[in-house]
Amino acid sequence: MARSLFWKFPCKARRRFVSCGSLPLPHPNNFVGVIDQLPRLTIIFAAPPYPEWHFHAKMCHVSLSINVMSAAADPVTLMKSMVGKAAADRVVSGSIVGLGTGSTTAYAIEYIGKRLQNGEIKDVKGVPTSFQAEVLAKQYGIPLATLDDVDRIDVAIDGADEVDPNKNLIKGGGAAHTREKVVDALAAQFIVVVDSSKLVDKLGSTFLLPVEVLPMAKTPVMRAIEKLGGKPQLRMGVKKAGPVITDQGNFVIDVKFDFIDNPAELEKTLNNIPGVLENGLFVGVTDVVLIGEIKDGQPFVREM
Ligand code: 5RP
Repeated sequence: MARSLFWKFPCKARRRFVSCGSLPLPHPNNFVGVIDQLPRLTIIFAAPPYPEWHFHAKMCHVSLSINVMSAAADPVTLMKSMVGKAAADRVVSGSIVGLGTGSTTAYAIEYIGKRLQNGEIKDVKGVPTSFQAEVLAKQYGIPLATLDDVDRIDVAIDGADEVDPNKNLIKGGGAAHTREKVVDALAAQFIVVVDSSKLVDKLGSTFLLPVEVLPMAKTPVMRAIEKLGGKPQLRMGVKKAGPVITDQGNFVIDVKFDFIDNPAELEKTLNNIPGVLENGLFVGVTDVVLIGEIKDGQPFVREM
């Protein structure tokens, strides 16, 4: 049932909302913050009736799409969710979209699906970079295509494990970097979505560099990596005995380099070792980085 609510916003003028939904609206005293990207608004409450929900409203005859989120969610989750939504908002009708892998991109996939379902955008096709992306796209109703079906990728949205000031990346935390690099590098625009903890001055400072390798070649590849000054370790499964197996049926070797001074050079050198499929260095591929941050308790999205 539609109902009116008069909320006081500490940082904004008073706003009258007429909700189209029948969900109970949170009490205004609960209000924590607002992310204003009109006509989309994210309103954060200390304790909304549901952890996260979405409705449409009219304010001064303007249609608004409103997300209500809980500030109780941990800050990293909040940043990931915001930045995923911000990227999903950049998808336009008729686009072929590369769908990345990981917990941040999962929010982007969810919100692209929601925008398709509520008619904000139409005729979007997704090209998944992993089994995970494929499952999520199906769950949220995004029609899928393979690289054989399309002649271009308009935009790709993907996460990263490290981002340096030149927008170079380390990826592969989800062991999906081989397919991710194929899809992300083909995109006319590659948007990276991260929370601020992923920003580093130099690649390799916080995250090991993933290298996908043919299982039969793991030992010679590890020896070759040691000769380059890296400390390799085979990635082992969690809740699975033995090594992680990629979507392509291969192993992942995570490598500690004391410093990565020349990512472009290292990317080529590693890929030149026989048995290496692909490594997680993404050099000169990124167009835009959307960064979720929290300052003075207020979440926001910054662009690099
Ligand atoms: C998967 C990836 C992911 O994009 C990367 O690990 C970031 O994931 P998250 O958003 O969950 O932190 O490269 O291979």
